[in-house]
This record gives sequence, structure tokens and C-alpha cells, in this order.
Amino acid sequence: MTSINFCLPDNLTPEQFLAEYWQKKPLLIKQGLPQLKDMFEPDDILGLSLDEAATSRLITQNNTNNGDQWQLQQSPLSEEMFDNLPEQWTVLVQNLEQWSPELGQLWNAFNFIPQWQRDDIMVSYAPKGGSVGKHYDEYDVFLAQGFGHRRWQLGKFCNESTEFIENQPIRIFDDMGEIIFDEILEPGDVLYVPPKLSHYGVAQDDCLTFSFGFRRPNLMQVLDSLVDAATGEPSLFVPMLLDQPLQTAGKLDRDSITQIKDQLLELLKSEQGDELITQAVSEVISKRQYELLVPEDAIDEEDLQQALEQGAVIRTDYSSRLIYTELNDEITIFANGQSLDDINDSEASLLKRLADAESLTLEDLTQANIATETVLSWLENSWVWLDF
Ligand code: SIN
Ligand code: CO
Repeated sequence: MTSINFCLPDNLTPEQFLAEYWQKKPLLIKQGLPQLKDMFEPDDILGLSLDEAATSRLITQNNTNNGDQWQLQQSPLSEEMFDNLPEQWTVLVQNLEQWSPELGQLWNAFNFIPQWQRDDIMVSYAPKGGSVGKHYDEYDVFLAQGFGHRRWQLGKFCNESTEFIENQPIRIFDDMGEIIFDEILEPGDVLYVPPKLSHYGVAQDDCLTFSFGFRRPNLMQVLDSLVDAATGEPSLFVPMLLDQPLQTAGKLDRDSITQIKDQLLELLKSEQGDELITQAVSEVISKRQYELLVPEDAIDEEDLQQALEQGAVIRTDYSSRLIYTELNDEITIFANGQSLDDINDSEASLLKRLADAESLTLEDLTQANIATETVLSWLENSWVWLDF
């Protein structure tokens, strides 16, 4: 792999992007991802959308006297669903990095944002006029044009009171407020859209748009995971000691609730709390959202050794979630929702380098004394892939 430039305009540093645009303002990045041009054709995506293991959606738009009526069909999609479509429709496929490591590598163009915040790469195919309506998303997204052209309009920021059109299967609205951006993107162009900003993209011809989506957990997910993490702590199962002022017998008094809350906050602020929260957050953010595909062409140890000798390298599999934490100088590696507790220090240091987007050669593996068998297990777990 030749190294991939950051997807940012030439005159903008990652620091400036994070300070001025990230989660705040949209940004057009002309030719931000030139590698996307011609990587896929519409037929590739239509074919993939029919694969029974794909997570895909078919959205159609019928113009009626009472405005548009939209329809949504979820995967598995069948060929018949594509018969007799109205003029305007879109098919979406999620988690493309699972199918194409070449595309997955383009995540590296966004390495100025920590990879734990990556969600997935979604693609949309639409013929001329197709769109998914005026809407907003909760997350940051880089909308990258791969094939054909799409006109993007951006409007106001939305909030909880934004009203959606009733009786539609997708969350769309009519009023985008003042249009602050209106441009046609060409293959290779990228538009960054912050969370909650209304946007509307209409295919100008046969059009493929790739959404590099980011995500962060919500507090409910963290709380849920915290309970899981805390289950292994016997000290938390000991009943609390509370000061008890005299009360009427039936009342649960404020003072007792405050004491319990204070003990809870004390726990969260303690070193033990730090460890529990680190574990809880790491598990949440490293969880896969999509089923893991079983690799079709499993490689054996001999072929792996030979490939490495011939210059193949090991990289993280972009559809897996490999991250690490450093707490009190101790590195913990998390892969797909679980901490890897039974790996040795040299394995941990190599997995850390992989998580930081480095690739590993045979020399790196030999120097760290890593057996081919270990690499084979990483491949089988889909934490890494072999780039020939
Ligand atoms: C699309 O590609 O048509 C939709 C992507 C988005 O709006 O997030
Ligand atoms: Co959107």
C-alpha cells in the first residue's frame, strides 16, 4: 500500500479540522479520496446488495397526489424486488469494509480521528433522481463520491423537536431551512457533514456515494456495559453501610438516597472505578455491529509462511475492531468486544502497532518471536488480513 494522504484540503491541518469543523461545520474536500474513482461500478454494488450475508436496504419513492410515498425493504433483498421499480430509488449496503479490504484501507485517510470512533462504510447506489430524502443523522459522516455525480444540499441543524413527515418508513422532513451549501460532487470529492445537520443528496446520473460514518457510544450503552464489567467484582456485592437518621417507618428518605449516590460516585471516581469504566467503554466501542463473515479461503500455515517470505504484510482487518487502552502503564488489547487476557507482551505490542494502522512484515514477526501459528489465529479471528 502506498501511504494514504489525509482526506483534508491542502491548506487545512488535522488540528484545524478538529478545532473548527469536527462536529461543528460542514466541509467540502475536493478530491479528498481520489482512490475511490472507479474502485466500484454500480453493478458491483447491485450484486452485493443481493448477497444473503449483506446488510442492505432498498428505498423507493413514489410520487403521488398527496406528496411522495416512500417504501423501505430490508435485506435479504431478492432480484424480484428490483422489478418494476419506480423512477426514483436507492439501494444501500452497510459495512462494505467487510467485503473489500481495498476500500477498508481508505479509513486510513481519516486517521486524524481515533479509529475507535469508526462506524462503517455504507454505499448507496441510485439512478438519476434517486435520493433517501431530506434528513439528518446523529453521527459525523464523510460522504465520498465514487461514481457518477450527486447534488448535495445542506440546510439547518436539527434537534429533538424536528418533525418528520408522518407515515413514512424513513425519518425525513420537508423543511431544511436556509440552504447553506448546494454543489454537485464528482468522483473523488468528499463532503463532511456534522451530526444533526440536515442534508439532501440527489443522484444526477448513475451514482455511487460512500458514507464513512463515525459513532460514539451513548451513556445507556456505557451503563449497561459497566454493569457487566462490575459483575466480576466481589467487593460490590457487599451491602452498603449507611448512617440512619430517625424517620417515619414508610419513608425512603432523601438522605439515604444521597448517601447511596455518594458511594456510587466515590466508586466511579476511585481507581477501581477507573478500571471498570475503562473496561466498560472499551468493550462497548470494540463490539462489532455486524455478523462476522467466515473467511472463504482459509490459508494454512505453510502458505502463510510462504506469503510472508514473499513480502506479504499483516494489517488490521477494517471490519474488525481492534483497540487498546493504557492504564497505569499497562496495555490491554480489545478485539471485537472482548479484552484479550491470555496474550503475552510481545503479542500485545504487535497488536497495538496493528491497531495504530501499522503493517507488520515477516521481520517484525520474527523479531518479536511470534509464531506463524499465532498469526494464523489472528487471521481466523478476522482481526487481521494478509495483504499480498
Ligand atoms: C446517500 O448516500 O444517499 C445517503 C447518505 C446519507 O445521507 O447519509
Ligand atoms: Co445522511
